[in-house]
Amino acid sequence: MSKDRLIIFDTTLRDGEQSPGASMTKDEKLRIARALERMRVDVIEAGFPIASQGDFDAVQAIAEAIKDSVVCGLARATDMDIDRAGEAVKAANAPRIHTFIATSPIHMEKKLRMQPDEVVAAAIRAVKRARQYTDDVDFSPEDAGRSDIDFLCRVVEETIKAGATTINIPDTVGYNLPNQYAGLIRALIERVPNSDKAIFSTHCHNDLGLAVANSLEAVLAGARQVECTINGLGERAGNAALEEVVMTVRTRQDIFGCDTNLDTTQIMNCSRLVSNITGFAVQRNKAIVGANAFAHESGIHQDGVIKHRETYEIMRAEDVGWSSNKLVLGKLSGRNAFRKRLQELGVEFESEETLNSVFQNFKTLADKKDEIFDEDLVALATESQLEAENESIKLVAMKVHSETGETPEATVTLSIDGVEQTSTAHGDGQVDATFKAIEAVAKSESKLELYSVNSITGGTDAQGEVSVRLKYDGRVVNGQGADTDIVIASARAYINALNKLRINQEKAHPQLSSV
Ligand code: KIV
Ligand code: ZN
Repeated sequence: MSKDRLIIFDTTLRDGEQSPGASMTKDEKLRIARALERMRVDVIEAGFPIASQGDFDAVQAIAEAIKDSVVCGLARATDMDIDRAGEAVKAANAPRIHTFIATSPIHMEKKLRMQPDEVVAAAIRAVKRARQYTDDVDFSPEDAGRSDIDFLCRVVEETIKAGATTINIPDTVGYNLPNQYAGLIRALIERVPNSDKAIFSTHCHNDLGLAVANSLEAVLAGARQVECTINGLGERAGNAALEEVVMTVRTRQDIFGCDTNLDTTQIMNCSRLVSNITGFAVQRNKAIVGANAFAHESGIHQDGVIKHRETYEIMRAEDVGWSSNKLVLGKLSGRNAFRKRLQELGVEFESEETLNSVFQNFKTLADKKDEIFDEDLVALATESQLEAENESIKLVAMKVHSETGETPEATVTLSIDGVEQTSTAHGDGQVDATFKAIEAVAKSESKLELYSVNSITGGTDAQGEVSVRLKYDGRVVNGQGADTDIVIASARAYINALNKLRINQEKAHPQLSSV
């Protein structure tokens, strides 16, 4: 018996970006979308086009760039939202519109202030309008997990009649238990007369830590699309983690009547990219993508794995892309080997000029550091992309000094819109002094919300990868920087965030405002 296809709908760029602090620029979203396409994700929810001009532009750019995955835009059930989403995904090879309206009593009464009949009418109208732009329309009754089943059956039947091809059932507040959520999906498939005309989809939030379990149980009950995010990023406690859903289905083919089309060896690349861009570190013991996910510490386990891998391993680390932590290139490696390895890691250069400049940085790094790993190469490429994206504030020079018994001091020269300025500041440590010196020149008045350093590889000569989150006037941005000197990496990350603060715009949240 041939297995059904399980559609993977990735919403890292939409629900993932709704995580407080996870905002991304258009270029960052494009890089993630390309990595998702490389991993053969079926549908990429690229954003919420009505939210801001920046969101619209990002969805449109992704629609133009992505060829192999469906590109989806989110829209509330209003004409304006749908027209904006339709316009944004127009250029895609395979465009989809995802429209939603809340159906739970609490949301209809308190948030929408609409009667159930009005909600049904708005849902039908929205789906019909979306069908004017594309044949691929996904409808979500928001807060389905707390909706009345009879009402839900009515909404689902009507929206399928209106042309919805996918019915997504959100457990918006992460309230359901696995058997309850699966029961909901099963009941809808059984009770809605035209349910065979649509694919049923899961969308689970992780408030009780059940998002993946709920999604999987629903797949066993007949759902054939899972909405999920890389590293489980998402609103509040996040969404179902893509890597956990995909690897569970792949590993337990004895249980699941379906499988995905994903190239799972790309999982680590996607995980690192999303973590690096958003500044959301992956916990060490996180399933599949955490640093310890395949590490065996106890002697008994190590002995068992050496004798026969399957004694303690149910998956191969290589199958999710964990093969990378090995020496790949050295000081004497040529430009072609460098380009080829980065291509294998999914990094493409816009021009030969960019390749040359990153290759020069690679040579400089190879002089400082004996062993260069895949992670170093990706960090180098990321650095060059950051520089290309954000030119208005640049680090020209910096000098830091610390000594026992003395207050650390930093002198930083920045070029802002082509004008160089220098400032000296003191702080609790070298990084603190550096940030104060930068701020004295940049005068951003932003608040530092997060500072984190991660060693890209092992050893004291490793590059430090720094994430900085800044907030100003309600807007939040993430900056990244990498260098073997963590104070320089920190300065770069701070400056990267300042540049983003200059370009990022205010945007609306899809679920805070009513239709
Ligand atoms: O959680 C939710 O209900 C959503 C909808 C917009 C699908 O994200
Ligand atoms: Zn959601």
